[in-house]
Amino acid sequence: MNFGHVSVMLAEVLSALDVKSHGSYLDCTLGGGGHAKLIGEKLDADGLLVGIDRDDEAISAATENLSGLTCGVKIVRGSFGELDRILDDLNVDKFDGIIFDLGISSHQIDTAERGFSYMKDSPLDMRMDRRQSLTAFDVVNNYDETRLAKIFSEYGEERFSKRIAAAICRERKILPIATTGELVKIIEQHVPRTKNGGHPAKRVFQAVRIEVNGELEILSDALKQAINRLKIGGRLAVITFHSLEDRIVKETFKQAAQGCICPKNFPVCVCNHKAEIKILGKAKLPTVDEIVGNSRAKSAKLRVVEKIFDGDASL
Ligand SMILES: C[S@@+](CC[C@H](N)C(=O)[O-])C[C@H]1O[C@@H](n2cnc3c(N)ncnc32)[C@H](O)[C@@H]1O
Ligand SMILES: [Zn+2]
Repeated sequence: MNFGHVSVMLAEVLSALDVKSHGSYLDCTLGGGGHAKLIGEKLDADGLLVGIDRDDEAISAATENLSGLTCGVKIVRGSFGELDRILDDLNVDKFDGIIFDLGISSHQIDTAERGFSYMKDSPLDMRMDRRQSLTAFDVVNNYDETRLAKIFSEYGEERFSKRIAAAICRERKILPIATTGELVKIIEQHVPRTKNGGHPAKRVFQAVRIEVNGELEILSDALKQAINRLKIGGRLAVITFHSLEDRIVKETFKQAAQGCICPKNFPVCVCNHKAEIKILGKAKLPTVDEIVGNSRAKSAKLRVVEKIFDGDASL
């Protein structure tokens, strides 16, 4: 299967995870298995690779792509929001390395009928997990005007959120807005085209996608579950593609990296709070060469942490 997704920051991820041949590794956003395959190739027969994705097409592509690996491989369809349950079901406890490569794959964007792209006309869908009932059609046609404006503003950082929400509500009284093309047309009528601002529908499409897939709601909790699932010395690498995601990752890491939380005027520590992780350097960006070869890499940002204390183990 040609999955058509070029994996981002491969060398940086491999170096960040510092893969050990007998180790166990978890890819929470398996996609076509690009990162996972390179990790798996470094593992011996007693090494373990677990991959999770909520998209059925990603699971099929990754299953094929990883079929030649000699290490242990477990592939699960599910959401990383349920990491604990998935790993308990697999009977796997802690890992030497975990990766999240967030957002959507090129395969999802490029498959017109998935409804992710403002460049292709198709039914309004945008579900990563097609077993889920909420679709982009429901969001666009059933959410009230205030809620739509809030989503466009918060998840899309769209300046014209109110204007667009009002226009959508006017139009859908006449006929439901059924396709990406119809939504793009409405947006284009209410967002002025700017030279460097990209496509006028870009921000609203990002916002609707985030809402349909609950992307930001589950992220912080999922990262905490992942930190909990690291062995001491284990590494967690997270690639984000927009500032909303990155802010959540940065903040969650900052909290987990904090030691004593006693008020500053306490002479001695009474909270016994310990930092679970240490942050390894600043966020890394792709090289110029990578961006030239793969424009999707342009907005990527990689953050890496290392587990230093296991709260679980001290209970
Ligand atoms: C950028 S792609 C990953 C590509 C992959 N690293 C590769 O190299 O082929 C992101 C993937 O994460 C999946 N995904 C997004 N949110 C998810 C979630 N909450 N749980 C599981 N998978 C998720 C998407 O379905 C998509 O396949
Ligand atoms: Zn303290």
